[in-house]
Amino acid sequence: MARVRLDRLLGHMGFGSRRELRGLLKAGRVTVDGAVITDPGTLVDPGESAIEVDGEPVRFRRHFHVLLHKPSGVITATADPRQPTVMDALPEELRRGDLVPVGRLDKDTEGLLLLTTDGTLAHRLLSPRWHQPKRYLARVDLPLEPADQEAFAAGVALRDGYVTLPARLEIVGPQEGMVTIHEGKYHQVRRMFAARGKRVVYLKRVAMGPLILGDLPRGAARPLTEEEVAALYRSASLPNPDEDDASPLARPPGV
Ligand code: URA
Repeated sequence: MARVRLDRLLGHMGFGSRRELRGLLKAGRVTVDGAVITDPGTLVDPGESAIEVDGEPVRFRRHFHVLLHKPSGVITATADPRQPTVMDALPEELRRGDLVPVGRLDKDTEGLLLLTTDGTLAHRLLSPRWHQPKRYLARVDLPLEPADQEAFAAGVALRDGYVTLPARLEIVGPQEGMVTIHEGKYHQVRRMFAARGKRVVYLKRVAMGPLILGDLPRGAARPLTEEEVAALYRSASLPNPDEDDASPLARPPGV
């Protein structure tokens, strides 16, 4: 197996940012094959080296999943000659060439974006058969009304004639709503409001299936926790390829 930098490997496993990892290593809490390692650039072979943090073995996971709080102004693509992409938005220690975004948020949309190295999982989550809810906070240019809620609940006829699945609109402010949809058509939320004569001026995805954005700051990213990964595979009715590994993932407290 290819050798990788120790800080990158620990970053992928959820042990913290590059700066946090420097502290962890400096404190002598990491061993490789029994020897304390303090240099973050040490090259290790995840398949061969016995890596421990605070005496607990670090489990090497086959797949890697990242939750990004996508900022507005970056496009959901892996590479682009002109515009910054969600890959550019990831911190160095979480960037990997085989990560793919699951679905798409518009350039101006913020919020929860999942990236994964598991193409099968990505494919399943993008299938129209994956009916897990996606929740968006939307601000619009005109006051929201109960008639909008009723229209969303019945399914909205978009301007191209497509009628959406029933959706939920909670009015959380005069011009602010929480929208829950169970599909992911192109520009869906913006087009649903447009069909009601309203323009979305701000859009943020706050949840997708079992994943919740929470208080992750805008522009920040983190690996999914083991619990989130398990819930995601369950929601996709797929076996978790990392679940059969018996040793628990070591995650030191406070990191
Ligand atoms: N609906 C939209 O209109 N845009 C997004 O980015 C996501 C959902």
